[in-house]
Amino acid sequence: MRPLSQRARSVPTSGIRTIMELAARLPDVIHLEVGEPDAVTPEPIIQAAVTAARAGFTKYTATAGLTSLREALVQKIRLRNDLRATVEQVVATPGSVFALASAVLAIIDQGDEALIPDPGWPNYASMLTLAGASIVPYPVMRETGYQPDLAALAGLITPRTKLLVINSPANPTGAVFPPETVRALVELAARHDLYLIADEVYEEFVYEGEHVPAARFDSDGRVVSVFGFSKSYAMTGWRLGYALASPQIAGMMARLAEPFVSCPSSLSQKAAEAALAGSQDPVVQMRESYRTRRDVVVDILGSQGLLAAVPHGAFYALVDLSRVSTDSMQLARQLLEEQRVATAPGETFGRLGTGLVRISFAAERSLLGEGCRRIVRFVGSNARAGRPVDKSPLC
Ligand SMILES: Cc1ncc(COP(=O)(O)O)c(C=O)c1O
Repeated sequence: MRPLSQRARSVPTSGIRTIMELAARLPDVIHLEVGEPDAVTPEPIIQAAVTAARAGFTKYTATAGLTSLREALVQKIRLRNDLRATVEQVVATPGSVFALASAVLAIIDQGDEALIPDPGWPNYASMLTLAGASIVPYPVMRETGYQPDLAALAGLITPRTKLLVINSPANPTGAVFPPETVRALVELAARHDLYLIADEVYEEFVYEGEHVPAARFDSDGRVVSVFGFSKSYAMTGWRLGYALASPQIAGMMARLAEPFVSCPSSLSQKAAEAALAGSQDPVVQMRESYRTRRDVVVDILGSQGLLAAVPHGAFYALVDLSRVSTDSMQLARQLLEEQRVATAPGETFGRLGTGLVRISFAAERSLLGEGCRRIVRFVGSNARAGRPVDKSPLC
């Protein structure tokens, strides 16, 4: 048989999946590798979907989502993000990942260059590769708490650059960009006539500083802002996200949804309406609970000099295991095998992830504490000055 599509095969396999598969074969593993809230979706949201299903709300909806949901999103964007928008500027999507992917498809032609953060969420590279983009990673610097280096970023722009992707609060670094940085990034995009996709799915989880939407500084409709329900309302399995963009880009994104997904799930849209209309206390509780867990991570790992940076947002921390090895896949495998802690290898997030692993602190608190203590033990028994690193038999 002839080979499968070259384009499909060019998408890298995820290092996180490799660790998950290895972890599934071992007993008593503490799972810190996946970015999944441990909370269950709040009950009123679940009830709204059940009621909608019983009422027969089980059909296709408009491609861009229900008008009632989009109107509610316009309200949310006004009240929580302090931005004016019309319904035509809002598209609901199956997960924010499809908001990102359809924005990429709307913007990118074969060979266009796209700037993505390093370290950054690996799906940017995958979806851009599928769209035919040439990927140019830009450094977010550990020395500055993983803030973008604007001069370095500007130096990477060529006449072929068409898109800049930014992510704050950030996965995997936990960085929150201050308002002046977000403004400077939007201005840089405008100066070089780039589109800018701002991935803001962790907007609700900021522990220090504030989240400023990139669209606040957009004067001519070049910014696509992506938000979601997965993280804010512990709704990862419901698959619902949304984007705010110019009417032209939003219209194109909805058009692109047609051949791929038809529309977001009708029941998830009803659940999302309930999430927006109901009490926001669960969001506040989740934020405070993640903050406490972030503090556990800082106490245990930060005090041992093992944190690459203190996370100010999202629910991830990069752990510096370079005292043991620089090969992050080797580190994640060995940590799993010796201490039964599953983590995401740093190089999954880019070249600057060497010597690092990412943990998610959305895990249950006592497990998180125990996982962190095991990481400390791992470094204690394997640090290069002490014992040389053995090759893991799992390799
Ligand atoms: C930075 C970032 N953007 C987008 C997403 C996708 O979220 P969703 O579940 O809404 O598709 C994730 C999920 O982990 C993420 O970490």
